[in-house]
Amino acid sequence: MDQVSQVREKIDIVGLISSYIPLKKSGRNFTTNCPFHNEKTPSFVVSPERQIWHCFGCGRGGDAYSFLMEYENIEFIEALRTLAKKAGVNLKFTSDAFSSSKKEKIFEVNKIASLFYNFILLKHQSGKQALEYLIKKRGLTSRLINTFGIGFSPTGRRDLSNYLINKKNFSKKDLVDAGLSYEKDGEIFDFFKRRIMFPLIDHRGNIIGFSGRKITDDSFGPKYINTKETEAYHKGSTFFGLNIAKDEIKKQGATLVVEGEFDVISAFSQGIKNTVALKGTAFTEAQALLLSRFSPKILLCFDQDEAGFTALKKSIPIIEKRGLSISVVILDGKDPDEVIKKDPVVFKKAIKNDIEVYDFLLDKLIKENDTQEASGKRKITDDILPLISGIQNEIVKEHYLKKLSKSIDTSYESLLRQLNKKEDEKKEKVFKKIQVRDRREILEEYLLALILQSENPRDSFTKSKDILSSYEFRILSVGKIFAEISNFSKEGNRFNLKSMSAILLKELLPSFDKCFLVPLPKFENYTKYEEEIIRVSKELRIFLLKEKVKKISTELKGKNTDILEIEKIREEITNITMQLSSQ
Ligand code: GTP
Ligand code: MN
Repeated sequence: MDQVSQVREKIDIVGLISSYIPLKKSGRNFTTNCPFHNEKTPSFVVSPERQIWHCFGCGRGGDAYSFLMEYENIEFIEALRTLAKKAGVNLKFTSDAFSSSKKEKIFEVNKIASLFYNFILLKHQSGKQALEYLIKKRGLTSRLINTFGIGFSPTGRRDLSNYLINKKNFSKKDLVDAGLSYEKDGEIFDFFKRRIMFPLIDHRGNIIGFSGRKITDDSFGPKYINTKETEAYHKGSTFFGLNIAKDEIKKQGATLVVEGEFDVISAFSQGIKNTVALKGTAFTEAQALLLSRFSPKILLCFDQDEAGFTALKKSIPIIEKRGLSISVVILDGKDPDEVIKKDPVVFKKAIKNDIEVYDFLLDKLIKENDTQEASGKRKITDDILPLISGIQNEIVKEHYLKKLSKSIDTSYESLLRQLNKKEDEKKEKVFKKIQVRDRREILEEYLLALILQSENPRDSFTKSKDILSSYEFRILSVGKIFAEISNFSKEGNRFNLKSMSAILLKELLPSFDKCFLVPLPKFENYTKYEEEIIRVSKELRIFLLKEKVKKISTELKGKNTDILEIEKIREEITNITMQLSSQ
């Protein structure tokens, strides 16, 4: 057995997944809310029998490796290493098939680049002005500079590129892949020039990219630039400072989220070490998911301007969907960095006096609008009702509806009606999306599920196959699985789903797993179960027959072909339809 399978055999998928998220037993399987998309009712299923997982909401699924890859956002090789360690298997790589992946190569070159930038800042003449700026203007110490790995990218067009290629043996492609350099007319240039460099580090300690700030505010170009999208860096996937803050976040059970790099560093210097920066945008779903793994509470401390308020409103529903509690830290000043510089005690007090986000919003809206005028009431409710409707906890939701009702002198019932109107509109949109799948496709999958989950899959398959001879499946993967099952039983194998799934083409596995795990209605006994298989098969056969009639009718036009054949088919359709309706 190869080592990949050996490790897989030794890992129990239920144990593995439940070490990340709580699982609940449900029949033969385990279920939970999917960690990969937002949902209120669990559609994430884990099968101990087959050691697989599948989410019926977002369609993702696979084995222990793919779970870890998705959850930790890592590549196969890393997942293999982690699981092998857990399983106590010593990996022996004979070939370099497993040599470092593209992402790991990026981490490696980024690491060396950050050391280069750091050296320039602290030790080299060309970093002098930047170092002075950081220490004199921004109050940093060399200790803080090293804690956050800050550096400086020199002015030359190729300083870093030359160093990495000539001294460190990286290729041009490595640098371009990492986003450190770009190519133009066959020549290579540094992407970051004359900027203070902040490494962006994920929670596992890998440098995924950089952000660079200019040292003079009046010079040309944006104040900050970030690494463009690479295999390792995706905008809105991480936070600045999370690698440093994560232990403290766990300890305190709360994360302080600020906008900028300097806000994190200033907070850290005052001992507020559970701080991360969003870097001037609203929360993404990926970021909310990431933080939900470290603490149940989020304190938002955005800039006290219109942009900060907009970012706040956008972020709330995204964080709320993860079931995290959200509060706001109100500052008397532009941003945390500025307030801390003035008086750290004031900042610490502001954190202690954090306000529940919905109280904050309501107070703000009431202050800014005329609650006696219809137009004011409308503005307030338009802003806040969608946010209240997203509150996960029903008691908390009611609390704020009541508070709103009192504050704007509007009946609770009207607010509820307005809220439901909005929710109905949303539901309709979702419903329309679902309807796109037609009945035939639903039936095909349902039939395969009935067969795969049957007490006696071979028998169920044979029954259905007899009815469906020459039927063409609308869902290709389901059709292929039917053909595979057919071949498999022809070869005289014992019908065993486990060995069957082992020989299945890789691209068919998701479909197979899905049908194996989808929850089915309960049947009184096996006879009823069989009846259902026959009913569904017959209903599908009607589709086949109707198509035949259509085809022959078109052929018939102008010709003198087989009317008898059509009659025969019409008769069969009538027959089956009658049988179906009598059940
Ligand atoms: P500092 O003087 O560096 O503290 O900036 P600031 O306090 O004026 O930051 P601002 O409130 O403008 O922005 C907050 C954060 O948004 C910064 O720390 C950056 O991470 C990010 N940011 C600011 N300006 C830019 C920009 O021009 N481009 C990009 N991509 N990000 C920016
Ligand atoms: Mn600032």
